[in-house]
Amino acid sequence: MPHKSRGQASSMSRYNSIVILTGAGLSAESGLHTFRDKDGIWAKYDYREVATPEGYKRNPKLVLQFYNERRKQNADVQPNAAHLALARLEAEYPGGVLIVTQNIDPLHEMAGSKKLVHMHGEIMKALCAACATRHALHDDITLKSVCPSCGRTGVLRPDVVWFGELPYEMERIYRAILGCDLFISIGTSGTVYPAAGFVEEALRVGAHTVELNLEPSHGISRFIDAIHGPATEVVPAYVERLLKRARS
Ligand code: NAD
Ligand code: APR
Repeated sequence: MPHKSRGQASSMSRYNSIVILTGAGLSAESGLHTFRDKDGIWAKYDYREVATPEGYKRNPKLVLQFYNERRKQNADVQPNAAHLALARLEAEYPGGVLIVTQNIDPLHEMAGSKKLVHMHGEIMKALCAACATRHALHDDITLKSVCPSCGRTGVLRPDVVWFGELPYEMERIYRAILGCDLFISIGTSGTVYPAAGFVEEALRVGAHTVELNLEPSHGISRFIDAIHGPATEVVPAYVERLLKRARS
């Protein structure tokens, strides 16, 4: 049973602008591994080998294999009740709702979310390291793959932001956070920056901050409110509460 961990739920009945940061924990119940849980991806792979530009330079074949494998796992997963609840919130909430996801899977889109930023990129897309164009991906990327734009061979990489690289759409993300009055963090350990610092920015502008996570994250002290439990339980319940309060 999910339990309310701390803090006072904000008395606000209606928010003007909600920013929702999501992480791997949101997709866990859809069958995708997280990164830092006991059976996480970084328990099996050294992130320096497969999720850094240096690793790609050293051994592109290994990196392409790693992401081709993960893309196959992503191909047959379905959004869970938490993804669907977030899509419902965007469709029905009177205020603005923006999802900023660290996830590279397509589950938010499949659930119907439209206002969405993939700050770490998308595993179902390829990026050309030569001409920087991005392309929908239908099969594995190999060293023989040809960029559909510039026609070069062996220059395609997964369209995924690696450690040490700049995330996508940071200006849009910061503008949204600095204009929000509710910041919700779901399914993220709060260990990777700059995403882990977003809650600080939200507090700075007086937003109400809520963590919905299986267990307290590294950033828990910066959340005014927190409800801990599986996302498929705590997220739909929280969305229902937000919608009910907005209708009252
Ligand atoms: P960071 O400082 O934001 O956090 C990750 C750091 O924590 C790593 O640099 C590493 O020092 C440590 N770390 C994380 N997982 C680890 C593990 N399993 N074992 C040992 N150490 C581990 O990372 P950064 O290097 O400063 O890079 C930040 C940039 O990279 C940001 O732009 C972020 O969005 C991006 N990023 C992307 C991915 C990805 O896989 N898409 C992963 C992490 C960071
Ligand atoms: N429901 C809710 N939360 C869950 C669930 C669940 N069913 N299962 C796990 N969690 C929580 C864990 O408690 C943990 O706090 O999700 C979080 C997952 O944390 P990480 O594995 O660190 O994933 P994330 O925070 O998304 O990682 C951030 O690091 O390696 C990079 O690019 C990668 O985007 C990723 C970034």
